[in-house]
This record gives sequence, structure tokens and C-alpha cells, in this order.
Amino acid sequence: MIHNAVTDAIIARQTIRDYKREQITDEMLETLKEAAKCAPSGRNMQPCHVRFVQNAEMLHGMHLDFKNLVGWDTPAYTRADTNPFYHNAPTFVLIYAENDSAMDAGIMAENICIAAEGMGLGTCIVGSAGALFNDEAGKKWNEQLHIPRHFRYQIGICVGYPDEQPPRKPRFDDRIEVIR
Ligand SMILES: Cc1cc2nc3c(=O)[nH]c(=O)nc-3n(C[C@H](O)[C@H](O)[C@H](O)COP(=O)(O)O)c2cc1C
Repeated sequence: MIHNAVTDAIIARQTIRDYKREQITDEMLETLKEAAKCAPSGRNMQPCHVRFVQNAEMLHGMHLDFKNLVGWDTPAYTRADTNPFYHNAPTFVLIYAENDSAMDAGIMAENICIAAEGMGLGTCIVGSAGALFNDEAGKKWNEQLHIPRHFRYQIGICVGYPDEQPPRKPRFDDRIEVIR
């Protein structure tokens, strides 16, 4: 196994669902924006539009609308019924695209996660928030985020300083094979 800053960040990354309140620095934010921009995309179409939201009031409002939509007793990946979909992260990244660009968005999301990991930040990829942003109820938020009407939420990423050290989740050993 070869260890360097990149491979170590890829292997060390794990989902973080508790964050310190402290905001990430502007330099970190710039680095994450660059990591997003440099992501590869099919035919270099760069279909993803990205919003880095650092407005706590907006995030709380989105959380309330999300819970009102999916139900307050529905965990929806958010660990507990009152926990916001963005896990109280100080920065929430939303990736949108015009057409179904889940692959491009996913690759961009991982770029952001690994760059964040390399800077000592924690991340959580969030698919469930699409229930809000791709519903009529999310229209007002998409407008506030300057997202064109027909664009769809692809994936989101919580970013912040980790406030937990969860145990590593097991991985299947029998799903990767080398054929020689
Ligand atoms: C496409 C995708 C969607 C996900 N959506 C959510 C989500 O909505 N909420 C959440 O808390 N975690 C979400 N996760 C995080 C996964 O639960 C997590 O990556 C998985 O359990 C493996 O744990 P690890 O990231 O710590 O290795 C998502 C991950 C991916 C890749």
C-alpha cells in the first residue's frame, strides 16, 4: 500500500454527522470551490452548478421545510427526527444540474470530500435533501440560490470541523477482483 497525502485522505475519509459550530476559513472555502471546479465531467460539459451555503438562517429554514415535507418522525438519514438534513454543518454544498448528471455530480462531490479531508475537515454526502429541493416546496429555496427553474438537485455535502470520531464502517472484501 502506497501512502501519500492523497491516498491517506481517500482512505481516512468517513462520514461525519456532528460538526463544531466554527465556520471553515475562507481559504478552505476557496480550495473546495477549486476542487469542485476541477472535477472531471463527461465530454467536459461541466453540467453542475454548485452553491456553498454558509447562511445558518437559510439552512435552518431549509431544515424546517424538509422536515415538514418528509415528516418529523422520519429519520430520512438524519439520525434523529429533529436533526437537520445538513447535520448542523456550518457549510452545506448543493450540486445541481439541468439534466440527469448524477455521475458528474457524484464525482464532484467526492472531489470536495477528499479536498476537505486533506484540510482536516469532515463531510457528509447528502442525497435525501433532494426530497425538498426537487419538490414544489423547495422552489423558493432554489430561487434564493439562483438555481434556474428546470435544474434538479443532484447531491449535497455537509462540510465543517468534525465533532465526532465515528467507528469505521466495514467494507465488503469480496466485491473487488483483479483478473490477470
Ligand atoms: C449518494 C450518497 C447519498 C448519501 N445520502 C446521505 C444522506 O442523505 N444523509 C446522510 O446522513 N448520509 C448520506 N450518505 C452517507 C452514507 O450513509 C455513508 O457514506 C455510508 O454509510 C458509508 O459510510 P462512510 O462514508 O463513513 O464510509 C450518502 C452517501 C452517498 C454516497
